[in-house]
Amino acid sequence: MKKLYAVIGNPIAHSMSPLMHNDLFQHYGIDAHYQAFAIKEEDLAEAVKGFRAMNMSGFNVTVPHKVAIISLLDDVDPLARSIGAVNTVANENGRLIGYNTDGSGYVKALKSELQELKEKKVLIIGAGGAARAIYFTLAFEGVAHIDLTNRTPTKAERLVEECPYHAKSNILSLNEAEEQLAAYDIIIQTTSLGMSPNSECKVLSLHNLKESAFVSDIIYNPLETELLRQARDKGAKTQNGIQMFVQQGALAFEIWTNVKPDINRMTNKVLQQLGGTIC
Ligand code: ATR
Repeated sequence: MKKLYAVIGNPIAHSMSPLMHNDLFQHYGIDAHYQAFAIKEEDLAEAVKGFRAMNMSGFNVTVPHKVAIISLLDDVDPLARSIGAVNTVANENGRLIGYNTDGSGYVKALKSELQELKEKKVLIIGAGGAARAIYFTLAFEGVAHIDLTNRTPTKAERLVEECPYHAKSNILSLNEAEEQLAAYDIIIQTTSLGMSPNSECKVLSLHNLKESAFVSDIIYNPLETELLRQARDKGAKTQNGIQMFVQQGALAFEIWTNVKPDINRMTNKVLQQLGGTIC
C-alpha cells in the first residue's frame, strides 16, 4: 500500500517540502506520497490522532507546532528534547517518535563549506527557535566558543543556561556585536530580518567584519539577503538558507526511508521552484 507522509503547519501553502520529497520518492522508486496540511493550533491534537488512525508513516512539523507537538508523541530523541522542538516525526512500529533535523541540517550545511568548526569563534545573531536549534547542535558537536547577540539579551542568556551541552559563550548587545565583529570566524544570522518582502532590512552593520569570515543567513527568500550582499562586498564567504532547508529535509528523508538522498538533486529542485516564485 502507498505510504503517506506530510508536513503540517499554518500557513503551509508555500512549503517546498512536498515538491522536494515527492521528487525523491519518485526518483528512488518508493511508493509514497507527501502532502501539506494546514492545521490550526487548536486542531493539532485531533490531527495527530487522525494520523495515528491512518497509520501515517511520518511527517514534518513547522511553525507554529514545533513545540506543542512534543506532548502528543510517544518518544522524542535526546537532542530534540533538549532543544524543545520537533520538526520530524517517524512512525516506528506504530509509535510516533520526534526528531529535530533543523540544527543538524544547519551544521551539515556549514560543514559542506568549512572543514573545521570546533576551533572557530562563532557568533549567532538571534535567540529564537532557529538560534536555539543551531546553538544546541553546535555545542553538542563540540564547538568550543559560541557567542550570542540578540535585541533582547536576556533571551540569549536563557538559551545558553538551558543548553545541556557545554560551550564558552558571551552574550552581546547588537551594538557590542557590531563593534567586536572582527573577532569572529563564523557569523550565523537566524532572525527574520531581511526576509522578503522586507529584504532591505538587516539586523546589524558589518562595518567591522573581517575578510576571512564566513557569514551565513538561514533566510532563503531572497536568495541573497542584504546582510549577505554586504558580507560578499567585504570579501567574506557567504551561505544562504537553501542548504539548511535541503539538509534538514534530507535527514528527515533518511530517518523515514534509510536512503541518503542526493543533495544536489534536492537543491536544484528547490532552486528551480524559488526561481519560479521570486520576482
Ligand atoms: P524563530 O523560531 O524563527 O527563530 P522567533 O522565535 O520568533 O523565530 O525569534 C525571532 C528572533 O528574531 C529573535 O531573536 C528576535 O529578537 P527578540 O528576542 O529580541 O525578539 C529577532 N528579531 C525579530 N524582529 C527583530 C527586529 N526588528 N530587530 C532585531 N531582532 C529581531
